[in-house]
Amino acid sequence: MDVPVLHRLALNESPYPPLPPVREAMQRAVAEAHRYPQFHPDDLTERIAAWCRVPSDRVAVGSGSVGVALQLLQAVVRPGDTMAYAWRTFDAYPVLAAIAGAQPVPVPLSPDGHQDLDALLAALDHRTRVVVLCNPHNPTGSLVTAGALSAFLRRVPRRVTVLLDEAYVEFARGADLPDTSALLDAHPNLLVLRTFSKAYGLAALRVGYGLGAPDLVERVRRQQLPFGINAVATAAVKASLRAESELRLRVDTVVAERERLRRALVSLGWCVRPGHANSVWLAAPDPVDEGAAALTGAGVQARHYPGEGLRLTVGDRNANDTVLTALAGVRVLGGAART
Ligand SMILES: Cc1ncc(COP(=O)(O)O)c(C=O)c1O
Repeated sequence: MDVPVLHRLALNESPYPPLPPVREAMQRAVAEAHRYPQFHPDDLTERIAAWCRVPSDRVAVGSGSVGVALQLLQAVVRPGDTMAYAWRTFDAYPVLAAIAGAQPVPVPLSPDGHQDLDALLAALDHRTRVVVLCNPHNPTGSLVTAGALSAFLRRVPRRVTVLLDEAYVEFARGADLPDTSALLDAHPNLLVLRTFSKAYGLAALRVGYGLGAPDLVERVRRQQLPFGINAVATAAVKASLRAESELRLRVDTVVAERERLRRALVSLGWCVRPGHANSVWLAAPDPVDEGAAALTGAGVQARHYPGEGLRLTVGDRNANDTVLTALAGVRVLGGAART
């Protein structure tokens, strides 16, 4: 018999529903649902730009950050072009490459779950149009540090666009975090992707944005579907920006729970490296398939990559305790010796 799903920890969603003022703003927008949203999302773009402290011609808003990524690919990819990215990674990249007609060039992660920047650079050739970096990385949570990112960007030829996906950036902690908006002037071929789906908890509403040099942003904006950002989502994002301090507290709670989960899993014998997203990554040769089965049996939906890894979204305390109880029943061979 199937065990009912009690905890959804497979999609790196926020465990928190929208804050009351955000919900109220959405309700007010629903009451006006017979009206179109703006033809182009100019108000929202300006609001996001002011919040990011950049001029508004550096911001392109889209239908989730995947929507912005697709707009970028549609703007730059020509027949025969390729798109390089580290693999394993976010499942959408190959899908977007296929839609835009780019040939994917997956480059294996290094054994410790980092994007192998030297191998990515070595994979670039005259056909490469786009290289994707995901930072923090999905699914491993690994981080490309400020110094490594700057060195990487200096070595990427200008004709290659760098798509830097920062969907999880709000969850990253540490002294060596890149300040990507400071890199935009020096790298007109860089588009930084951000989203309201993760830290801001609005995954269902589909709003993301890209930051880049004005010329690149203009090209991305030209691919924007007219009336494409809906009014309820716009209201929710604006209200979320007003509620930023409360949302940041929620992010701090997720980060604290991530660290609690990691420490507890390490003490159970799992080899868990520090991560910077709202998730924890368990990797083979630890018994990830047995772990996945134990979680399913406990009503926890996690993201299982058979034989390879298990990505657990950090949930609320109760969900995380359920995870720990389920995984405590899985024997990890040699765990203590490795950690
Ligand atoms: C690395 C990465 N980028 C982007 C997204 C999707 O973001 P959005 O909801 O803004 O399209 C995800 C969702 O899981 C993700 O893992």
